[in-house]
Amino acid sequence: MQVQFARPGEPWDGALALGVYEERRMPARTAEFDASVDRLLARAMEASRFAGKAHQMLTVFTPRGRVVLYGLGSGEDTDDLWCQKAGGTLVAALADSGEARLTVVLEERDEAGLDAAGRAAHVGYGSLLRSYRFDKYRTTQKEEDRPSLQQVTLELEGADAARELFRELEAVAGGVFLARDLVSEPPNVLYPASYAERLQNLSNHGVEVSVLDEQAMTELGMGALLGVGQGSAKESRIVLMEWRNGADDDPPVAFVGKGVCFDTGGISLKPAAGMEAMKWDMGGSATVAGVMQALAARKARVNAIGAVGLVENMPDGNAQRPGDVVTSMSGQTIEIINTDAEGRLVLADVLWYVKDRYKPKFMVDLATLTGAMLVALGEENCGYFANDDELATRIADAGRAVGEGVWRMPLGDGYNRMMDSDIADVKNAGPRNAGSITAACFLERFVDGCPWSHMDIAGMAWASKDAPTVPKGGTGWGVRLLDHMVRTCYETPPA
Ligand code: BES
Ligand code: MN
Ligand code: ZN
Repeated sequence: MQVQFARPGEPWDGALALGVYEERRMPARTAEFDASVDRLLARAMEASRFAGKAHQMLTVFTPRGRVVLYGLGSGEDTDDLWCQKAGGTLVAALADSGEARLTVVLEERDEAGLDAAGRAAHVGYGSLLRSYRFDKYRTTQKEEDRPSLQQVTLELEGADAARELFRELEAVAGGVFLARDLVSEPPNVLYPASYAERLQNLSNHGVEVSVLDEQAMTELGMGALLGVGQGSAKESRIVLMEWRNGADDDPPVAFVGKGVCFDTGGISLKPAAGMEAMKWDMGGSATVAGVMQALAARKARVNAIGAVGLVENMPDGNAQRPGDVVTSMSGQTIEIINTDAEGRLVLADVLWYVKDRYKPKFMVDLATLTGAMLVALGEENCGYFANDDELATRIADAGRAVGEGVWRMPLGDGYNRMMDSDIADVKNAGPRNAGSITAACFLERFVDGCPWSHMDIAGMAWASKDAPTVPKGGTGWGVRLLDHMVRTCYETPPA
């Protein structure tokens, strides 16, 4: 779907969205339109329960075409997130309506006196985010089952300013879409080698992409990651993505992603029901790829590293066993208790490698790591852990700003001790209770004191229902949050 900006007065066709304040108060442009259609809008409101409450909608067919009245509430709360939600809600309402075009008419000043450019850009952003579809594998879909809406036009005097603001948001949406695409791909198509190949595309945006194959990992001593991929016919990979656009001597920020392209559980095999969901066990890595694309596409003034560990967790005659002991790149030995606790094994080697090789300012890892996190927080919030309070606060602030909820969870020595092994330095699975926390404690043993946060996105990578700016399916969760955190905390100001 296309988003564009136009000044009032240009001819339009298709549907029109017009705002209404609460108690059915019509802003100037809405009232003007109403006068031209013999008060049809006012009469339709009176005949319905539509009162202009925030995000309420009423469709009215007028001689000048379909009009969607959109509730603005008091008009005082229309911040960025409000506007994104409005754009997404309108797109969802009109996607299958038969209309190909929607023009959204913005008041030049809102109730707070702010001009329309920022609002328009964020309405456009929300509509774009909601319009995402993954239908490359639907070959028999009939034309009438495809969405009709092709284009959203934001109409305002400051169209040029809005278009300018939108450019950066569109770059971020591109990163979100990349992450959603990757998460949605089936596991026979997206496996470590094909995934690594696909990430080469990031070089089109100026990201330097390099790949470690199994031989390179063996030489580095990455026994933890390699053990996970051992039962798979597919070779494992690590992909490193570097975006350098900050000061030469400025240490990079680093994002690390779990990329388990399919998680059967291995020898500790998962039950059959719902196992297809484990194609999105690479959601953390998809977010990392999406963030790297977003940063590069908007030319963020920062040095950033993205690193993803790509493996497939399969059971076969060569698969890792419960009871095995592997040696990680850090030198620490790990007793395998449960081969289904594989994500942390992958991250252990990637975190250590990134810390060792890049000496980053901080590392944030993202992983669909534990079912226990879904039990704790559902699909509402991402549970995250941090060994650094400043980093933790910045993550929370960014989450609030972009509407991606996070909730900090504890680390601690008591939990950490639960991961001590009887025969090795550490074990990969502890008791059932506090499963998300002990997983985080396991990871902390592989960051060597580097400022670090672990985001367990088990509940976030895939949505079971539509949200205003996120259609159900792969969400691309975290791209917006991390992009925003970089933008507000780590970019060097323009010279
Ligand atoms: N990928 C799963 C976690 C998961 C489960 C993510 C459901 C999303 C939805 C992970 O590899 C896993 O299997 N974790 C185990 C760990 C346990 C064996 C210690 C779990 O959560 O049961
Ligand atoms: Mn698993
Ligand atoms: Zn997993």
